[in-house]
Amino acid sequence: MNLSEKMAESINKQINEEFYSAYLYLAMASYLESKKFKGAAKWMEIQYQEELGHAMKFYTYMNTRGARVVLKSLKEPQKEWNSILEVFEDAYKHEQYITSLIHNLANLAIEEKDHATLALLQWFINEQVEEEANTSEIVDKINFVKNSPNGLYMLDRELGQRTSTPGNEEE
Ligand code: FEO
Repeated sequence: MNLSEKMAESINKQINEEFYSAYLYLAMASYLESKKFKGAAKWMEIQYQEELGHAMKFYTYMNTRGARVVLKSLKEPQKEWNSILEVFEDAYKHEQYITSLIHNLANLAIEEKDHATLALLQWFINEQVEEEANTSEIVDKINFVKNSPNGLYMLDRELGQRTSTPGNEEE
């Protein structure tokens, strides 16, 4: 069974959103680096890699299903933020937005009785639960230590220890 044209187009749009997510997180990494939050910058670089992985997961799936991947241009990401707190608040908001897109795709797969795509999307649905939890937890931690340089230093060190997102090890 081939992918429907509508599904192929929707996945192509999602590929663009995942690459844009990668680009946005790299922009955040660059901002954090400029503010000397080396650990948080490293955390964002890993997040960038994860997003490339998401895009490629959809890319590979499209090829497996014999659908044509069409790459579109990427939006220019934001360059500046006012604080490390604002960066992670934006990352959390962005993940909530991505979750809504994944859920829309799942709704379409259900509507089209496309079980194979739904199975792929199940992975992404679970992944988004992790993505939201990770970013919102960091927002909470920054809020705890907000006015303490020592606390921020320790948190930055902790963020720098990230090696991969939990749940992605099998990738
Ligand atoms: Fe690809 Fe962070 O969702």
